[in-house]
Amino acid sequence: MNKITIHGGNRLQGTIKASGAKNAVLPILAATLIGQGESHISHVPHLHDVTTMNQLLAQMGAQLTVDHHSDIFINPDGITDPVAPYETVKTMRASILALGPLVARFGQAKVSLPGGCQIGSRPVDLHIKGLKAMGAEIDVIDGYIHAKAKRLQGNRIVMDKVTVTGTENLLIAACLAKGETLIENAAIEPEVVDLAKYLSAMGAEIKGAGTSKIYVQGKDNLTGTHHAVMPDRIEIGTFLVAAAMTQGDITITNTCNDDLDAVLDKLTEAGAEISLGDNQISLTMYQRPNPVDIYTAPHPAFPTDMQAQFCALNAIANGTSCITENLFENRFMHVEELKRMGANINVEGNRAIIKGVDHLSGAPVTATDLRASASLVIAGLAAQGDTEVHDIHYIDRGYEAIEEKLNQLGAQIIRS
Ligand code: UD1
Repeated sequence: MNKITIHGGNRLQGTIKASGAKNAVLPILAATLIGQGESHISHVPHLHDVTTMNQLLAQMGAQLTVDHHSDIFINPDGITDPVAPYETVKTMRASILALGPLVARFGQAKVSLPGGCQIGSRPVDLHIKGLKAMGAEIDVIDGYIHAKAKRLQGNRIVMDKVTVTGTENLLIAACLAKGETLIENAAIEPEVVDLAKYLSAMGAEIKGAGTSKIYVQGKDNLTGTHHAVMPDRIEIGTFLVAAAMTQGDITITNTCNDDLDAVLDKLTEAGAEISLGDNQISLTMYQRPNPVDIYTAPHPAFPTDMQAQFCALNAIANGTSCITENLFENRFMHVEELKRMGANINVEGNRAIIKGVDHLSGAPVTATDLRASASLVIAGLAAQGDTEVHDIHYIDRGYEAIEEKLNQLGAQIIRS
């Protein structure tokens, strides 16, 4: 079941519901570690990365059950083995999110260094630097981060770069530190805000989440609680681009409209008609897309996680566009595959110059990472003929039931 075949050319039409956000649920699951007693996490997307995070927490000794709605009930009180082994971390970099919570609650952690990945080198030096500033003793030995602390101490931490999981790791840890922590140059991504909502419901005192200065007044203990995960803005964006590329007409429910401004602006510039309702977004497209220039940057600017999908859209636009990738140094792996489908794209450093072609043609292509796989699937939906996307397992890390949702909108996709 490692390949999907897409019969291209069908116009997407109909309504689907957005799933919970991958990038919110992963830090929230890691944050359950700092609460005493059980937490209940709902609106959990059924994703491979969620299963990996569950396995990681269960392996450490947390009690965990998943019900038939994919809701997760987790009690970390019995953790005996605060370790994230290489075998897990190499398959999911977000395992690094266990570091801060483990050292804050259990006084120690051993977490494998993630190493590089397909889209770039992705260091975690700022996670380590921040925890050291809170008093953790950290050594890196044989590829593992060993962290210890009797009790973390609040401090003022200025992040050298805006990092999403770095901010989240320090935010969670600060909730159990002694005294006040100020995180400056913090990530302001909506997923950081969702995490802060969960932590606050556990009893944490946090101010400024969603701004570049987050203040945390540390508590002696926090209590497990219920939280419903926010919608996945990248999943929503991906479906909207797919609809725009197939000149479709779709509605997505359970949306977080305010978090999608940059993406909706670019879709409008591409010629799509967008109407916003209460937690829903409708898109209709009557024309071949206009080319749109993209410049990725931290929120609220255009998200790097939507770059590959707009590469596919620009590939069939009526003109030339330029995409500049500023977050990750090797995030154009999808380009060579799109070229196999007839796209005219030239990559120079961190820029892709895309001359739109009249149509893409179905071809066998290979997915190289999560968002690259999404761009190939949506390119296949708009292409003439059949596209086979190999190594499709990447897509299951971040898109819940993708072929069911697309088929519900009139696509023809089978997995084999
Ligand atoms: C998160 C998202 C990912 C998204 C990315 C950027 C999760 C689980 N993943 O990844 O989907 O593409 O944000 O929006 O939420 N950096 C350092 N040192 C560090 C940490 C980061 O130099 O210690 C650099 C990275 O190499 C990168 C930049 O900072 O160039 C931003 O990366 P970061 O925000 O940390 O990405 P992730 O949190 O890993």
